[in-house]
Amino acid sequence: MKSYCVKPRIYMEREGLREVLRGVTQAFIVTDKFMHESGKVSYLTELLEELGIEYRIFSEVRPDPDIATVTKGIEMIADFKPQALLALGGGSPIDAAKAMNYLAARQGFITKCRFVAIPTTSGTGTEVSRFSVISDPEQSAKYALVEDELLPDAALLDAELTKSVPPAITADTGIDVLTHAIEAFVSTNANDFTDAAAEKAIKLVRSNLLRAYKTPEDMTARQKMHHASCLAGMAFSNAGLGLNHSMAHTLGGHFHIPHGRANAIFLPYVMSFNAGCRDKATPTMNRYARIARCCWLEGASMRNSAFNVIRSTKQLIKQLGLPTSIGEAGVPRADFMAALDEMVEAALQDTCTATNPRTCTPEELRALFQEAYEGRRI
Ligand SMILES: NC(=O)c1ccc[n+]([C@@H]2O[C@H](COP(=O)([O-])OP(=O)(O)OC[C@H]3O[C@@H](n4cnc5c(N)ncnc54)[C@H](O)[C@@H]3O)[C@@H](O)[C@H]2O)c1
Ligand SMILES: [Zn+2]
Repeated sequence: MKSYCVKPRIYMEREGLREVLRGVTQAFIVTDKFMHESGKVSYLTELLEELGIEYRIFSEVRPDPDIATVTKGIEMIADFKPQALLALGGGSPIDAAKAMNYLAARQGFITKCRFVAIPTTSGTGTEVSRFSVISDPEQSAKYALVEDELLPDAALLDAELTKSVPPAITADTGIDVLTHAIEAFVSTNANDFTDAAAEKAIKLVRSNLLRAYKTPEDMTARQKMHHASCLAGMAFSNAGLGLNHSMAHTLGGHFHIPHGRANAIFLPYVMSFNAGCRDKATPTMNRYARIARCCWLEGASMRNSAFNVIRSTKQLIKQLGLPTSIGEAGVPRADFMAALDEMVEAALQDTCTATNPRTCTPEELRALFQEAYEGRRI
């Protein structure tokens, strides 16, 4: 269904936290080990201490958070009964905190708890999305929960927090932003509102991602990437995603490839499939041509324009030092082949597949996985 939700309030400076925390006496912080041990969590604790707010820190979230971590957090929340939940970190701590907040409220452990998401990577856009991605290691799977109740009440965008992100993670997360924006733009639920957010996000990524990767101290590029991530989050939270994310979820679940990197591997292949580059041009080809127009990549025809966007996306992925095939990402061929049937099935069942602009048969999906394994020419 086409719709656009405008929650949460977005703050662009730390002072916003004072407003959100008014009347709060107990706050629960969800973060990861790096944020805690590097002292970055003091971004929150100094303010909480100044405001006389009691707090507890849960810093056990690891990349690709699992159900066990969420359960452990809920137990601490049930015991502490906070009035505010502050999620600080990349997509992993924020997604874990979203699931904790949602499930703890459903189980009656907290009521009217304010939920604030503070991203420290510019990638997932989870601070404004209805999604929370949780892993099930036993099934080698990642599941996307999609509910309005998962939306934070407030998000804080402060690029200072991303200053320490190393280039490899800037690359991974930056391509995640681009994938969100492109998939939302061609989604079956795209509308004028999601298009506006997606187009702006794509432009910001194209002008700032390489700068942030090559010159990590460029705070203008960092802040622009933070905004791009959030805008792309608004776009996909409302329009949905597509096959690229479905394939990345299952590949990441099986082989522990970081989420953004898994997206980077598939992006040119999925775009080419959606546009019908190998067979008959689809209406999605025109949508890619529209992206070309707003990025100064327009060619002599729709086809040329769409190709320009796909080629330049692949070029950007290479410039960011990211792998352009599953093989190059280090997955042994035998392991890939052993997991292929399961990955095809999981990608077909993934929530994101429903809004992909082109339907895909199991055979076509299998061929796409294989193309991406070999890194075939588009
Ligand atoms: N809910 C959504 O809408 C959504 C969308 C896309 C992805 N995801 C999920 O988000 C997760 C990925 O999130 P991510 O890409 O942000 O990575 P992440 O949160 O897993 O973090 C990756 C690494 O970066 C480090 N890190 C984070 N901030 C840092 C900083 N400021 N300085 C130095 N290091 C820092 C972390 O400690 C970690 O080691 C995956 O589980 C993915 O499936 C969710
Ligand atoms: Zn993503």
